[in-house]
Amino acid sequence: MTQDELFKVLVAHCKEYGFIFPSSEIYDGLAAVYDYGQMGVELKNNIKQYWWNAMTRLNENIVGIDSCIFMHPRIWEASGHVGAFNDPLIDNKDSKKRYRADVLIEEFLAKIEEKMNKEVEKGRKRFGEAFDEDQFRATNPNVLREKAKFDAVHSRFVEVQEAGDLAGYKQIIVDNNIVCPISGTCNWTDVRQFNLMFSTSMGSTAEGANTIYLRPETAQGIFVNYLNVQKTGRMKLPFGIAQIGKAFRNEIVARQFVFRMREFEQMEMQFFIKPGTELEWFAKWKENRMKWHVNLGMGAENYRFHDHEKLAHYANAATDIEFCFPFGFKELEGIHSRTDWDLGNHQKFSGRKIQYFDNETSEAFTPYVVETSIGVDRMVLAVLSHSYKEEQLENGESRVVLSIPAPLAPVKAAVLPLVKKDGLPELAQEVMDELKFDFNCQYEEKDSIGKRYRRQDAIGTPFCITVDHESLVDRCVTVRDRDTMQQERVPIGELRSLIDKRVNLNNLLRNL
Ligand code: GAP
Repeated sequence: MTQDELFKVLVAHCKEYGFIFPSSEIYDGLAAVYDYGQMGVELKNNIKQYWWNAMTRLNENIVGIDSCIFMHPRIWEASGHVGAFNDPLIDNKDSKKRYRADVLIEEFLAKIEEKMNKEVEKGRKRFGEAFDEDQFRATNPNVLREKAKFDAVHSRFVEVQEAGDLAGYKQIIVDNNIVCPISGTCNWTDVRQFNLMFSTSMGSTAEGANTIYLRPETAQGIFVNYLNVQKTGRMKLPFGIAQIGKAFRNEIVARQFVFRMREFEQMEMQFFIKPGTELEWFAKWKENRMKWHVNLGMGAENYRFHDHEKLAHYANAATDIEFCFPFGFKELEGIHSRTDWDLGNHQKFSGRKIQYFDNETSEAFTPYVVETSIGVDRMVLAVLSHSYKEEQLENGESRVVLSIPAPLAPVKAAVLPLVKKDGLPELAQEVMDELKFDFNCQYEEKDSIGKRYRRQDAIGTPFCITVDHESLVDRCVTVRDRDTMQQERVPIGELRSLIDKRVNLNNLLRNL
């Protein structure tokens, strides 16, 4: 199966098994908006809990808040979003499709990189053990030709981005004959800027109404509460404020399922520090956040840093943690050194002094900030796309299994009476009652045991517990492991600790 096909199958699987539904589906859906179903919401909550506990419990100097989506409109002027939160857009005149000009160029660059990598792989196969990748990249004419092309486009791209040169974007697209994937033509409009914020009005009468924005990031809710938290919590630098909440962006290129949505959820943490220490903290948070990801056991090779060459208006260092999604390595999380840009601007725009008084040096200053910002929905997609597997079994059958890291699995155990009679449902209910306070469990008695196993595999349940006639006598049950499909007999009284060992989130947190 190609990665493209795998992605389509995954989207269908998410719908079929109650993870993610297109929003407003009975009205034919709403573009780039998705609802989470009964399984999706559990997975999402587990991800949020892993993040929240890692931030607020493992760091004594990080506390949480929950600020509102609606905020004073001046906040978005102060943060730069009214003036600069724009995407450069271009339309293809033949297909009438709209694209982000920068994304078209990035995808073109990624294709060149892919060609170079293919050449390298060919070389590796040809030369076997004697293969020296560095030497090959430095001497192979095909690689060198592609590299020269890549460097030329890339350096123009960086210049154009830095200058905000809209005509320059178009020129790169035209000069490299970058075509529309739908029409296949290079018949493009000029590039225009488009603000990504949604607006609405607040107030009871039209005349008195104020235009306000749906927040495009949760971070500003943290900045404007900096003084409140610092003072009421008697926080000393360095300290952090964490928040999980909805954000809204009128994304134009809204494809790739929950990867890029118009309504999504962020988990953001602003770490307030002394000016001058920001690069040290930036390095620490890079390491800390990568550890959080790799700790899930989805393969260190599936993550990489991508340091920004073009920095956002507020940053003096920035990197992305990219994950290997079915459509390639893409941003999962951003880590930014935001200096005193936000607090400084809120000070200017609000006229309020937003500072920190250092008792040791008797100095007052505006703190600097290092931010970590991750999309919950992208995390859900990372987990699901990595977990989805179609396996051929030894008995000739096949199964679809979601090998979701066990502490994140929506359902931790399924309790299955072998038959719907002979007192087995009653004993199975007893097992449910024993487990339900600690774990999200499902009780199922319909269909053959094989079919029930398949259904649980498809939603990623780590344990299936079968109650059979022998259980009535020996009070033992058969526990089947999702990944190995091995079965073992276990006394009912030992189930809780057996499941807990594998699914308890604290075990993940202890490794951080
Ligand atoms: N406060 C900084 C900030 O918002 P960002 O890089 O624009 O930075 C942070 O967004 C994270 O939010 C991204 O790494 C991504 O995981 C998530 N995100 C951004 N836009 C998104 C969208 N349209 N749909 C889903 N997730 C999105």
